[in-house]
Amino acid sequence: MKSPIAPLPAAAGVGLRAPHVAQVDAERPRVAWLEVHSENYYADGGPALAALDRIRRDYPLSLHGVGMSLGSTDPLDRSHLDKLKRLIARTEPALVSEHLCWSGVGGRHLNDLLPLPYTEEALAHVCARVTEVQDALGRELAVENVSSYLAFADATIPEWEFVAAVARRTGCKLLVDVNNIHVNATNHGFDANAYLAAIPADSVAEIHLAGFEARGALLIDTHGAPVAPAVWALYGRAIDRFGAQPTLIEWDTDIPPLATLLREAATAQSMLEARDAIAA
Ligand SMILES: [Fe+2]
Repeated sequence: MKSPIAPLPAAAGVGLRAPHVAQVDAERPRVAWLEVHSENYYADGGPALAALDRIRRDYPLSLHGVGMSLGSTDPLDRSHLDKLKRLIARTEPALVSEHLCWSGVGGRHLNDLLPLPYTEEALAHVCARVTEVQDALGRELAVENVSSYLAFADATIPEWEFVAAVARRTGCKLLVDVNNIHVNATNHGFDANAYLAAIPADSVAEIHLAGFEARGALLIDTHGAPVAPAVWALYGRAIDRFGAQPTLIEWDTDIPPLATLLREAATAQSMLEARDAIAA
């Protein structure tokens, strides 16, 4: 029997993106783990998958999905789930995650991670979907809080209570994106600390850190800038509350040299170690 896959280390990782694959493959930089977008590896073969197979031997891996449209009212895309299952079997990831969002309806797919209406009806629906995915995959899924710029007039549940309820009702894990909490707290005028306080600490399996851009009064979650000082501060409060957690530096647009990502990861790592030193 195969030994179970170890969880992600409670250390800093980086998102592996196409411009860095050759360098990571050649140099094996010192970083605790890597995360990839699952959908980039849905082909049955080819050089990208071959490189991932090689790199995977030396790093724990997290598979992060962007295309499942978990909250949509369309039926779950079975061929998407089958491809994810095949990729899981091939790469044996420590964690599999998706976004708590929808990306299309009526068979039309948008390249956006759209927020759900935070209502009891949507909560029941998305919980049933998370359960369906966990049953289909035969393993726990981690779901990530998304950024948003508008709220639904019908929303009755604060976002943080909605996210916490999904974890409690389904037993799924949470991927807490600290940048998204800061962006939403600014855009919608809520207290980011109250958000952290509502999240069940034992459900947290990973943390994301990324950069945003300010456009007028709104913060836009671009994943194209360094982690902002306010987000580092919120991250410090997050690990005070959740304990040291696997922490990912996400950078998806205007991708800088790998060294920049590794420097950001080193900052997260030093905060994790400082937190552990205080806890010990
Ligand atoms: Fe994220």
